[in-house]
Amino acid sequence: MNQRLLPAIFAATLCLCATAAEDPPLVKHMEQVDDAYKALRKTEDAAKGAELAREAQNAVVKTLGEIPTMISKMPDGPERAKAAATYRHMVGQLYVKLCEIEKAFLDNQLDRVAALVDEIKELKKQGHNEFMEDE
Ligand code: HEM
Repeated sequence: MNQRLLPAIFAATLCLCATAAEDPPLVKHMEQVDDAYKALRKTEDAAKGAELAREAQNAVVKTLGEIPTMISKMPDGPERAKAAATYRHMVGQLYVKLCEIEKAFLDNQLDRVAALVDEIKELKKQGHNEFMEDE
């Protein structure tokens, strides 16, 4: 084999491995939700909080276009359809709660924000219990 080709082949193999190991799009979108959600829990600045709530909402919209890896492994049929519908229903609830958080920030109701954050914690726990695969 041409010796000069070896580095190119090595680089191409590395690229392929990196692509294969990349996180699925749903994980990336969830991480965006996570970043905005964590930041909005820390702020007491109403305008900043409302902006972060909108950022989280935009990331949640992207998660709606994906399907959890666990569901993608299910055979086609009513069980899979029901699991996908439940997933979208829960993510839809997350979206609504983030809209409520945005409104609470805009009304300067920080107590209300804290109560909604508690509701989201519960929703996140439920969603991850139901749809996240064990490592
Ligand atoms: C604010 C609420 C939520 C936050 C901050 C959040 C955050 C995250 C993060 C950071 C990950 C990546 C985990 C990793 O890399 O191991 C993740 C994954 C995931 N989340 Fe959420 N999540 C939330 C709500 C939900 C809800 C409500 C559902 C379901 C209805 C859900 C379903 C999933 C699934 C299925 C995965 C794994 C992705 C896959 O299947 O490939 N999450 N989430």
